[in-house]
Amino acid sequence: MKKLLITGASGFLGSHIIQVAQSTYEVYGTYNTHALEGIDGANLFKVNLADFQELKQICTNIKPDAVIHTAALSQPNYCQNHPEESHAINVTASANIAGLCAQYSIPCAFTSTDLVFDGKNAPYKETDAVNPVNLYGEQKVLAEQAMLEQYPQTAVCRMPLMFGAATQKAKSFMQGFIQTLEEGKELKLFTDEYRTPVSGTTAAKGLLLMIEKNYHGVIHLGGKERISRYDFGKLMVEVFKLPDTNLKYCKQQDVQMSAPRPADVSFDSSKAFALGYKPLSVKEELEAIALLN
Ligand SMILES: NC(=O)c1ccc[n+]([C@@H]2O[C@H](COP(=O)([O-])OP(=O)(O)OC[C@H]3O[C@@H](n4cnc5c(N)ncnc54)[C@H](OP(=O)(O)O)[C@@H]3O)[C@@H](O)[C@H]2O)c1
Repeated sequence: MKKLLITGASGFLGSHIIQVAQSTYEVYGTYNTHALEGIDGANLFKVNLADFQELKQICTNIKPDAVIHTAALSQPNYCQNHPEESHAINVTASANIAGLCAQYSIPCAFTSTDLVFDGKNAPYKETDAVNPVNLYGEQKVLAEQAMLEQYPQTAVCRMPLMFGAATQKAKSFMQGFIQTLEEGKELKLFTDEYRTPVSGTTAAKGLLLMIEKNYHGVIHLGGKERISRYDFGKLMVEVFKLPDTNLKYCKQQDVQMSAPRPADVSFDSSKAFALGYKPLSVKEELEAIALLN
């Protein structure tokens, strides 16, 4: 079996990639502050990827045949308030990973984001101009550019909003929504913030497909549907049979956050669909997740 190195294996997406990749690859995963334990068939290592020596050592030891780089400081509000710390992992470490993949000439997939766009001209194709409205989005743009410069064979996979079952050390935004409603508290969701979300499992399959195809350049791995946060909440209430009296709506302008948020960063992912990427509808994805509970 070929060796696949997944950075950020303790994170939401990284954990889903481990689950999906195990049947095809010998899986190696890294974590930093959240130690992973006892995942059958996965070899797990603590690495601070912001330390180049640690990163280089892990690559030398493992000699991977492919890398999926998901590790990041992924919360836009945190990045906005911690610019240097987030730059080190989101930009510098990403560029270093591309450099090492170039040395080994191996497939490298990077998880960028829909937040590279300003949200004013959706749906977005790969060829549309980026214009991030927050620091996290800016860092992902810098990482995309640096990685492609270091290694033009990098697959820059722009990921949409992702949801799914909680993993050993990570959750998606869904778990907070469900808990709030189950506790009888009010859950206010935006009617004017649109995304093309997919489950962690679908996203993992998309990334593995790009590795398999040795895809080079930018690709959008969005879902089939454009949906507002509020409509997502309504579907979640329906599928998970949650009490709905406390599900309320609001507008982006009603909530102040450290990092500005673009309104509509829906993707046009037809290029990935043509390559065989097959997200389900949001409702079907939620139904599949509900079956796991
Ligand atoms: N979630 C979304 O909806 C979404 C949407 C678009 C794009 N993305 C992108 O997709 C990727 C995965 O997102 P996610 O939601 O799975 O993120 P996540 O749950 O926040 O996980 C982030 C991972 O990065 C690791 N990490 C952070 N700093 C590190 C460091 N200095 N050294 C080594 N590892 C470090 C974390 O390790 P520890 O926890 O062990 O410290 C964790 O495994 C990210 O690149 C994110 O920007 C996510």
